[in-house]
Amino acid sequence: TKIYVPRDSSALSMGAEKVAVAIALEAKKRGLDITIIRNGSRGLYWLETMVEVATDQGRVAYGPVKAKDVPSLFDADFLNAKNHPLSLGLTEEIEWLKKQQRLTFARVGITDPVSLDDYIAHDGYKGLKKALTLSGAEIVKAVTDSGLRGRGGAAFPTGIKWNTVLGCQADQKYIVCNADEGDSGTFSDRMIMEDDPFVLIEGMTIAGVAVGATQGYIYLRSEYPHALKALNEAIAKAEAAGYLGDKICGSTHTFNLEVRRAAGAYVCGEETSLLESLEGKRGLVRFKPPLPAIEGLFGKPTVVNNVISLATVPIILDKGAQYYADYGMGRSRGTLPIQLAGNLKHGGLVELAFGITLRELLYDYGGGSATGKPIRAVQVGGPLGAFLPESQFDTPLDYEAFSNIWAVVGHGGIVAFDDTVDMAKMARYAFEFCAIESCGKCTPCRIGSTRGVEVIDKIIAGKDTAKNIKLVRDLSDTMLNGSLCALGGMTPYPVLSAMNHFPEDFGIAK
Ligand code: NAI
Ligand code: SF4
Repeated sequence: TKIYVPRDSSALSMGAEKVAVAIALEAKKRGLDITIIRNGSRGLYWLETMVEVATDQGRVAYGPVKAKDVPSLFDADFLNAKNHPLSLGLTEEIEWLKKQQRLTFARVGITDPVSLDDYIAHDGYKGLKKALTLSGAEIVKAVTDSGLRGRGGAAFPTGIKWNTVLGCQADQKYIVCNADEGDSGTFSDRMIMEDDPFVLIEGMTIAGVAVGATQGYIYLRSEYPHALKALNEAIAKAEAAGYLGDKICGSTHTFNLEVRRAAGAYVCGEETSLLESLEGKRGLVRFKPPLPAIEGLFGKPTVVNNVISLATVPIILDKGAQYYADYGMGRSRGTLPIQLAGNLKHGGLVELAFGITLRELLYDYGGGSATGKPIRAVQVGGPLGAFLPESQFDTPLDYEAFSNIWAVVGHGGIVAFDDTVDMAKMARYAFEFCAIESCGKCTPCRIGSTRGVEVIDKIIAGKDTAKNIKLVRDLSDTMLNGSLCALGGMTPYPVLSAMNHFPEDFGIAK
């Protein structure tokens, strides 16, 4: 019998390692023949550790399983999918999962992340094989036609970025994957890298073939040790099987890939400071132009894309641009891996086509707040994203709809807060975060963030409220318009949205 116990960090943090060991020992004790497969997480975090058993009808799930539950699972004959208080039924029939549209995450939780055979058996490398029959321009066209936009947060059309690099003449070009996932409440990059690393490797290889780049780097958040291990193991296997290196899949193309551990600074997720850091320098933001697409890593044309953007390319090449573009709304095509976090009953990964509303995500998927109190605010798009009040919960997830209400979709992280949240403190935190993480290159961010903390402190203490509110607005205006990068430039989003939607927390009339 095949038993699946996730190896994703979310499950490991809930004791998956102990569960796997307990299952192996118990089976041995009872003389039962089992195979334990360490799969990725299905993304239903409140049910981790979720153990699955393979049956003729499909996989049957149990969760949340603790090591101490293991003997009772055997007593209940879970190997034959019999009932137990932790039974969840057929995994694919769990509503939360069944309603999703998993394209980028198609294999996550299903396969053994570091098995190349399993990857190939589940449609892996079909995209690359297709790409190898096309010209660079044709690959770029497919990506452009799919409507894919940068999933790191800026939503710039991926195909147009690639086209700039394709159009450059150079002796060397690079593909750089931004895997420095630093936004609060986000984990989709980590899940892809831990739970389906080959899809990222394949996506980067396709990018290399498309624009004529022979070297790729994954700039990996240093706090992701499990992703590092999975990526390196997968890269070694892809190399050994001829999917990386010289003459990939017997073609004339070369593509090599290396993982580099990041420096542990939020600002190194900004593409130009990322490139500085990758070159071995301090993570200071560069002036743009020149764009990295024209003068990027070591001054060469470079594609810098987020993990999810690159990991979405294989399915686009495999199933066609139109297949992907058929999902979504308006100019937001395809699906978004949304991360539900904060004060929610059901946190985890939900991949859906653009167009779903925040309310549906918070209540139909998130199950409302974990504390049972009303959800008062949500922050979408990381620590630099705006706070949204209840009156905006019907906004559909769509880049333009969010920008119309002065908010951002960003990397798709949603953090919920109940009615005990103090929004003035949240605004203070935004300035403080910026002060700590600022690279120091430009004045509005370096000085403005520190002054921002001081002024909010005065507002919290009730000193000269009207005057200090005006000061915060002036300061935010300077940061918005005068900062060199998004760190300083977006800090006013959480600050001003908190002030505008929750004035009562700042001692001003609603
Ligand atoms: P941006 O709007 O300056 O650039 C978008 C991308 O398009 C860049 O890669 C840029 O080089 C490229 N680009 C623009 N014109 C181009 C052209 N003609 N040809 C080729 N490439 C072109 O945005 P930026 O500063 O890169 O990112 C800001 C965003 O990052 C924010 O909106 C925020 O949501 C997100 N963010 C994400 C984080 C995460 O953890 N994923 C953390 C912090 C911010
Ligand atoms: Fe550096 Fe902040 Fe200026 Fe960005 S906005 S360049 S992080 S000082």
